[in-house]
Amino acid sequence: MPTLDELTARIAAEERSFGDALAGVDASPAAARPQALDALTVAWTGRKAGRIADLMALLPSLPPTDRKAFGQQVNAFKQRVEAALAEREAALAATRRPAGAVDLTLPGRRPSLGHRHPLSLVREEVQQIFTRLGYQVLEGPEIEDDWHNFEALNMPAEHPARDMQDTLYLASPLHATPDAPWAAPDAPRARGPQPLTLLRTHTSAMQIRYMEQHEPPVRLVAIGPVYRRDNLDLTHTPMFHQCEGLVVGKGITLAHLKGTLLAMAEALFGAGTSVRFRPSFFPYTEPSAEVDVRCIRCSGAGCAVCKHTGWLEILGSGMVHPAVFEAVGYDPDEVTGFAFGMGIERVAMLKWDVGDIRLFYENDLRFLEQFSV
Ligand code: DAH
Repeated sequence: MPTLDELTARIAAEERSFGDALAGVDASPAAARPQALDALTVAWTGRKAGRIADLMALLPSLPPTDRKAFGQQVNAFKQRVEAALAEREAALAATRRPAGAVDLTLPGRRPSLGHRHPLSLVREEVQQIFTRLGYQVLEGPEIEDDWHNFEALNMPAEHPARDMQDTLYLASPLHATPDAPWAAPDAPRARGPQPLTLLRTHTSAMQIRYMEQHEPPVRLVAIGPVYRRDNLDLTHTPMFHQCEGLVVGKGITLAHLKGTLLAMAEALFGAGTSVRFRPSFFPYTEPSAEVDVRCIRCSGAGCAVCKHTGWLEILGSGMVHPAVFEAVGYDPDEVTGFAFGMGIERVAMLKWDVGDIRLFYENDLRFLEQFSV
């Protein structure tokens, strides 16, 4: 049976041992200190296996008359241990970063900036050019009806010009709803003999849509996707983008068309760019012309891009056909107008010498990152 003196000496030894351990914690690197302090706390004050609990467990081995004194000594030791641990804990807490704190001295993380898609760049550039010239910019439904896409543009059913733009028809007519605002609001038109709904083959449908709703004068560009039953190859995709232009008013002439397109070509491809009109045919214009720009690679000397012709075709155009004015209720004796339709992809391909139209839709970052923000 141990005596009280022996156990008192044992407490003193434990206290020295604790002092050493505490000094070890104080000397540990700051980063390791919280963990070391936790370990020390568990080792000494743990309820079951802590060293103070071990001392207390000796109590029953003393004669009953000594037990009270020993208990008081162990408790007093326990309080010193707890006070020392609490003091260290408080010191650590004072230096600890508050939860959620941000170290403002760290270098920032740069957000990676995306790139504008080349087709968006061209589209916006075209939009800006025509906005400067006082044009209104429109979009319009991608799901059209036969009337706006063909019939009112002087392409009645069975007209051979429709074959150039064979398209994708919907099985049943579709009306615009809040969930499908891209559909034509009034499709199919009762006026057309064919109540068909289709994906628009060209933005020219917007000429009709606008003139039906507004009196002349008109000055608009309509930009957006169009669809054709084309097979995918280097220069064709079943969906691409067009920019349609329409100007109607009293005394509008071919000279206005030429001046406008020259201004656009110079803005898009640089000052000094020249344009050339080649006679062509479109059912909705008379006369009609295809418009070329001087090759931007070789300035006309002849190269692979222009197939050694010195010219690049960029759009179709002409003076609005009287039949189109009649279809929308304008008087062809009162007003004249010009129209043009240009492929956005085509401009982008010429501008940046892109040889394969499919690159615009593949989302390959190695391609897209070459265009400035
Ligand atoms: N719609 C024609 C096409 O898709 C382009 C076009 C030609 C539009 C002549 C016009 C125009 O407005 O006058 O190829």
